[in-house]
Amino acid sequence: MENKLNFSPKIHILNQHSSILNHFLAEMRDEHTQKDPMRFRKNLERTAEITAYEISKHLSYSEINVKTPLGESEVSLISEDIVLATILRAGLPYHQGFLNYFDKAPNAYISAFRQTHKDGSFTVKVEYVSSPDLNNKVLILTDPMLATGQSMVLAYQALLRFGMPSKLHIASVLSSEAGIEYVAKNLPQADIWTGAVDAEMTSKYYIVPGLGDAGDLALGEKL
Ligand code: URA
Repeated sequence: MENKLNFSPKIHILNQHSSILNHFLAEMRDEHTQKDPMRFRKNLERTAEITAYEISKHLSYSEINVKTPLGESEVSLISEDIVLATILRAGLPYHQGFLNYFDKAPNAYISAFRQTHKDGSFTVKVEYVSSPDLNNKVLILTDPMLATGQSMVLAYQALLRFGMPSKLHIASVLSSEAGIEYVAKNLPQADIWTGAVDAEMTSKYYIVPGLGDAGDLALGEKL
């Protein structure tokens, strides 16, 4: 599954390597298995855990000693402060997976919704933002579906009033090619992590083949 995005060392497409991740992606995409909301949420969480592990290989570490009951062991621990941020509401179960691994990280939440216009176009509205201090933190900003990329970029910009992160990681389960390109262009400092990249979007900006509406599948249909 090679494509032109492969040539950037800052774009990490996880299904390009065979791993258990592909099972979770397959279950989330499959129109039958995806109908079990608990399994869908769990698969979002498991995909996030794998992504968190991959991101952890790109963090800074320092050596410390821990006392065991039998002696001392030198261990290498993350030496940077991490903040986990997600976009409501579909981000919630995905976020939980990151929090399972980066379990001491404080959290930021941003609400973003699409205000659709008569001609089918839309404006992304960011309303609620809560965040800890972001100065010199490693910010991991997540949203399971990176479709146009606009919500991700606006969410990052809304977070900047809380400080300037030292490093930005953007993570999603599925992305469109256009979404990755948009984020790479507008947030060139970011490392982008995604489970898989699909080529197309519908006229309503759903990723194709994608998986449908991640928020509805995980948390129920909204009015
Ligand atoms: N949000 C979703 O839930 N699915 C898409 O395909 C795009 C955005």
